[in-house]
Parts: sequence; C-alpha cells; structure tokens
Amino acid sequence: MNASCGGLPFDEQLEQARQCQEQGDPWQASEHCRAVLSRDENHAEALALLGQSLAAMGDLAGAGHNLNRAIETDPAQAMPYVHLGEVNLQIGRTREALRCYQHAIQRQPDDVNILNSFAVVLWNMGKIDEARALFRRAVDKEPDNPFTRRNFQLLNSRLVDRWHYAMVNDAVRNQQFEGALKRAIHPDSVVLDIGAGTGLLSMMAARAGAKQVIACEANPALAALARDVIRDNGYSDRIQVINKPSLQLDPDIDFPKHVRPNVLVAEVFDTMVIGEGALNTFAHARRYLLSTEAVLIPREAVLFGGLVESERLWREGAADRANGFDLNRLNDFRPDTLALEAESFSGRLLAEEFPVFTFDLAGDRQTPATSQLEIPITEKGICHALVFWIQLQLDDKASIDNRPAFDDTTEASTYCNHWYQAVKLLVPPVQAEPGMTLRIEARHNRQNVAVVIYDPETGKPLEDPGTSD
Ligand SMILES: C[S@@+](CC[C@H](N)C(=O)[O-])C[C@H]1O[C@@H](n2cnc3c(N)ncnc32)[C@H](O)[C@@H]1O
Repeated sequence: MNASCGGLPFDEQLEQARQCQEQGDPWQASEHCRAVLSRDENHAEALALLGQSLAAMGDLAGAGHNLNRAIETDPAQAMPYVHLGEVNLQIGRTREALRCYQHAIQRQPDDVNILNSFAVVLWNMGKIDEARALFRRAVDKEPDNPFTRRNFQLLNSRLVDRWHYAMVNDAVRNQQFEGALKRAIHPDSVVLDIGAGTGLLSMMAARAGAKQVIACEANPALAALARDVIRDNGYSDRIQVINKPSLQLDPDIDFPKHVRPNVLVAEVFDTMVIGEGALNTFAHARRYLLSTEAVLIPREAVLFGGLVESERLWREGAADRANGFDLNRLNDFRPDTLALEAESFSGRLLAEEFPVFTFDLAGDRQTPATSQLEIPITEKGICHALVFWIQLQLDDKASIDNRPAFDDTTEASTYCNHWYQAVKLLVPPVQAEPGMTLRIEARHNRQNVAVVIYDPETGKPLEDPGTSD
C-alpha cells in the first residue's frame, strides 16, 4: 500500500527513515516511522524500521516489541529477525538470538550481511566450524566485501597462534632440527611428528629419506593446513596427518598395521619448557606409541635462569613511586612472569647462570618436583629480575636455546629467536653483593613452573601480588 501521511507518501516517508537511520540519526528515523504508523499501525516495514531505530537509541525493550510486531505482521521478511537477533544479543539472550538468525537465513540464504552477522553470533558462542563455514559462504558470494573478508581473516587468525610465523621463520631452529633428523633417519625409519603444526618437521623427515611419517596435530585448523601444505610440497604419499592430541592416539587404529615409529620428533615446548604438556607427551609416546629402540628428538630439555640487573626491564612490569606518589599497590596486579623478546638486551648478569630443571625426555631419569637453589652472587648491583630461557638437546651433536646475549656475553650460534624469555621480577629489587647468596625455590607439576624468590635479609618470600591489604 502506498498511502500517504503527513503530506508524504508512505514509501517516501520510509525512505527518509532509512536514510536518517543510515546517517546516524535514529531519532529522526523513528519520527518518520511513527508518522506512518499513526495512519497504519500494522505497517510491517515501519514497525521493523522503528524497532531498528529504537535499538540504535538504546531502547531495547521498545525495539524488541516493535520487531516482534513486524514479524507477526509479515513473517516472510528476514531483516526484522536479524535486528531482533541483535537486540537479543545485547540483552544476553544468546539462544533466542541464534534462533532469530536461523529464521533470517532460512528466508534469505544468500544475503551476505545476514551470513556475516549469523557467523559472528556463532563465533561468539564458540561454534567455530559453523562460523567459518558461513564466513566462507559470504566471502564466496561477495569476494570484494571488506567486512566479510576481515571477519573471516580475524576468525582464522584466532585459530592459529601468531608465534607460528616467528617459529617457521626461525632459521637456526629449522636448520638444527633438520640436521638432527638427517642424522637419525635411515631408509627404514618411520617418524612420528607430534605437534606437527604446518607439517614442516614432517616434510624435513620425508626429505631426509624416512620411509613413512605420521604427523599428529591436535589443532584442527593446523591439521587441515598441514595436509594442504604437505600436498603442495609433494609429500602426501609418505606423510599421513592425524588430527588428534597424541595422548588420544591408538596405534592399533591410527597407525598403519604393525607399524611402530622408530624416530620421534616433537617440538612442543614453551618458554618454561613444560607449559604445552611436553612431559606427558613424551612419556606417553615412549610408553604407548614408539618402538622400544626409538630415537627421540629432542632427548633433553633444560630450563635455565639468570639473575639480572636491568632497571628498564623492571619498569616494564612493576611500580614503586611516580612523581613522588607511592604506587606500590599496583604491584598486586602484576603478572607472574613477563614475556620478553630479547636476542640481546642491556642487562647485567649478577651471578652465574644456572639450570632450574633438567627434563630427561628420552630416558627414565625423573626430575624432582622441587628445586632448591642457593645462587652465589658474583657481581655488585641491583637484582631486578630472574630471566628464564630454555635449551633443547636435539641429539649428541646439536642443542638449541634462546639464551639472550647479556651485556657481557657474546652471541650464541644456536640462539633461536622465536621463543620469548619468561621474566620474573624481584619486587622490591634486591641489593646484591658478591659473597651473598639468593635463595630460590622452583616447583613444577609437569605442566607449570612456579618460582619463589626469598628476601636475603628477612628470609621471607619477596612481596607477592595480592598480599597487601
Ligand atoms: C611449537 S608448535 C610446533 C609446530 C611444528 N612441529 C614446527 O616445529 O614447526 C607445537 C604444535 O604442537 C601441537 N601440540 C602440542 N602438544 C601436542 C600433542 N600432545 N599432540 C598433538 N599436537 C600437539 C600444538 O597444537 C602446536 O601446533
């Protein structure tokens, strides 16, 4: 019906409402809608537009009421469902929102904006695969739509940690792993690559002449990517990708018949060595997945520590005074450790570096859960931080590490630049003198490392976050 109101035909009035809405003036838009509704209270489009305007004005109850009326009046329209979905999301009614988007997409299955909005809702609900499929559909339908592309890319970027880029570009790490694989592999080798990521180490193993490679990757997006990468590089005939955490592998089901891998390569180490579950991954692989004589790469992992003077570092993660005011309470909210990316940094070692934990990955040596350390101070200075780095012994010829070059040391040839160093700050900093010792207690529970540093004067732990009141 194209009746008129307030001197203007309905469709002109509604066109003005739409323009006002688009130009960010929902108040004026709602006036145009009300003008139509004063003459025809069941005008579905006016009800829908009014609902949309009220939502933009923050009147979510009014918006919901008018959108529901629009749907009752003309249930065939998709857009009122989309806007009602948005309103439901804003008031936390996620299930109702989901139902609204389902109705909308049934009515307009090819509408890119609806696909996009629906995908965002699914993503927020953790339904990642469904969200990806809808974004994919939207991008295929309208490849030039920048918002759809951006959303799709944003979602993809959440599926794969950003450090994968630095890691595959870490030339030292790659070379050393490839060297160790070449030394371990012979024509009868069957290699198990746990935590295959992009499939890089699996392809190195295949190139080194392994008869067969089983690549196991827990992350579904990475496992799918690894399959594509391996196919692109022409190794699909020798590398099989299994998308499972290795702890769920069943050799009788997952491996080719009677096959037990005789080489394991697994790069599953974080900045404190064990945070990605490396200890259980290696122990389980040795017990259930590998042949008894299997070679393990790496075979040992060490967490090292160094006591450092570096005011700059301290100021990045702790506070004392600013402009004469005491801001110590901010320290209650400090993270346990900072992540530092420091191939070299201007900090001075105040004591010999020391192993905190040594993990025997290939053998049966157990690492005690607690490490009591008394570190003799060798240099006078202010001890601001305990810096951690890791060292992986790949085989008897090669090891790699991310030990930063401190002020007084030279560059190391096995330095791997993709691992961050974890840094525990001493709050307050400790005045260090040669002849004194600093007591440190480190504990691990096979997954996490917790460290307490003791005040040399009081013998008590240095200030912990959250202990002041
Ligand atoms: C540090 S990345 C290494 C990727 C690849 N191996 C490389 O060196 O380029 C570790 C990968 O291992 C995966 N991962 C860690 N523990 C795993 C396990 N027990 N089973 C399967 N995948 C695992 C993670 O999802 C991550 O993709």
